[in-house]
Amino acid sequence: MPDTYGLLILGGGPGGYVCAIRAAQLGLKVACIDKRAALGGTCLNIGCIPSKALLDSSERYAEMSRLERHGIIAGPAKLDLAKMLARKNKIVDDLTKGIAFLFKKYKVTFLQGVGKLIGKGQVAVQGPKGETTQVSAKSIVLATGSEPSSLPGINFDGKFVVSSTEALSFEQVPKQLLVIGGGYIGLELGSVWQRLGSRVTVLEFLPRILPLSDGEIATMVQKSLTKQGLEFHLDTKVTAVATKGNEVTLKAESKGQAIEFKGDKVLMAVGRRPMSAGIGLEEAGVEFDAKTRKVKVDSNWQTNVPGIYAIGDLIDGPMLAHKAMAEGEALAERLAGHAAMVNYDCIASVVYVHPEFASVGQTEEQLKQAGREYKIGKFPFQANGRAKCLDETEGIVKVLADAKTDRLLGVHIFGPRASDMIAEAVAVMEFSGSSEDVARIVHSHPTLSEAFGEAAKAAAFGMPLHG
Ligand code: NAI
Repeated sequence: MPDTYGLLILGGGPGGYVCAIRAAQLGLKVACIDKRAALGGTCLNIGCIPSKALLDSSERYAEMSRLERHGIIAGPAKLDLAKMLARKNKIVDDLTKGIAFLFKKYKVTFLQGVGKLIGKGQVAVQGPKGETTQVSAKSIVLATGSEPSSLPGINFDGKFVVSSTEALSFEQVPKQLLVIGGGYIGLELGSVWQRLGSRVTVLEFLPRILPLSDGEIATMVQKSLTKQGLEFHLDTKVTAVATKGNEVTLKAESKGQAIEFKGDKVLMAVGRRPMSAGIGLEEAGVEFDAKTRKVKVDSNWQTNVPGIYAIGDLIDGPMLAHKAMAEGEALAERLAGHAAMVNYDCIASVVYVHPEFASVGQTEEQLKQAGREYKIGKFPFQANGRAKCLDETEGIVKVLADAKTDRLLGVHIFGPRASDMIAEAVAVMEFSGSSEDVARIVHSHPTLSEAFGEAAKAAAFGMPLHG
């Protein structure tokens, strides 16, 4: 007889492990299957967390050259890359152990192996030594996440043409790093290696970077990164790659012209695709989009097969860890008989370049396309006292509000600690607040958050106070 659970989850990443813990907290008998021994999925092992560890370390290294302006003469900084990578690995290790601890605490059974649907409520788990066991459950949640996409005819070789996974662990700083794709990963990991000494060239297919973000701010981000030393080639489609010795050549087309780029490493960051192959979708009759391979779900995250659910990168929506976590938590609560929801209109996104770029809600482009009348308020960090004290005055806060009702529709922050600042905008938007609401909130002085208050005043009253 197979072991039987109330809930079985395929995937121990942010969607799966959060769903497992919350369901167990609410009294369900839960098992979570993951092929890795360490929990946390891509985000924790080879994604968000290690990249932020390197972004924070490399930013400190870059900051050394700016300290003189504070009156601190520190001498030339020296890089110990092995130590920087070891620090990153230790953070990952500590955090994955933290999840294992929570699994024990809440009695979630962890099954290491590759899970595959084999029938109604039935999953086969192939363990690390090849042995197969069978488990069954009333409900099954698919949370297997995503993997890096590659371009037609260009394959990852793990050494010269790499994905984000390998670019988190280069043993030496590349001399010339070629980055295909000016999206989240390209800009974040491009920034890391540029700060540590690489020449970094970003090749982007579209005429702009960060395609889905607010265009005005994306242009500011590009200018800022160019000033830092990254080189951009927009409207550039990479078509082929060739490796000879230790040198990689990329062939590309730009505005009808053929061009070549040479480097010692290529980071291909052209998006991610759901890991929906090999998990038994066809066998179990679960519907998915033939082109994108995204699993189709209803508003309860249930697939067309009763009792089988899917969340996170496997389904539609932004491929963000916190979106998967929110879905995992809400689904666990619904399965335990509680009411829960996810407000997809208020999911912030952050690009961890320097300064950071965080957004929530709609962009100007989206509002224009929807024909919605809106007003704009902007405030530069240049006029914010705390930003001056920090010597971090680059960037702006941009507030978009409905022209008639004043309801906040979007907030875009390019500036210091934007990743933390955006939380206030998310909270106000969750409560359907207006730009006047934000303008009348008393922000502590002197803080970066005053810049949000000022941008809101600009939207609500037509002008900021300090501008
Ligand atoms: P992305 O979708 O952010 O960017 C890919 C870029 O590659 C696009 O700008 C696209 O136009 C470009 N591209 C496509 N084909 C190309 C070609 N032939 N030549 C040149 N450029 C080409 O994807 P990315 O950066 O790989 O990230 C994957 C996912 O991971 C994202 O969807 C994001 O949600 C998530 N992520 C989130 C992070 C965060 O929240 N801070 C950090 C890293 C990843």
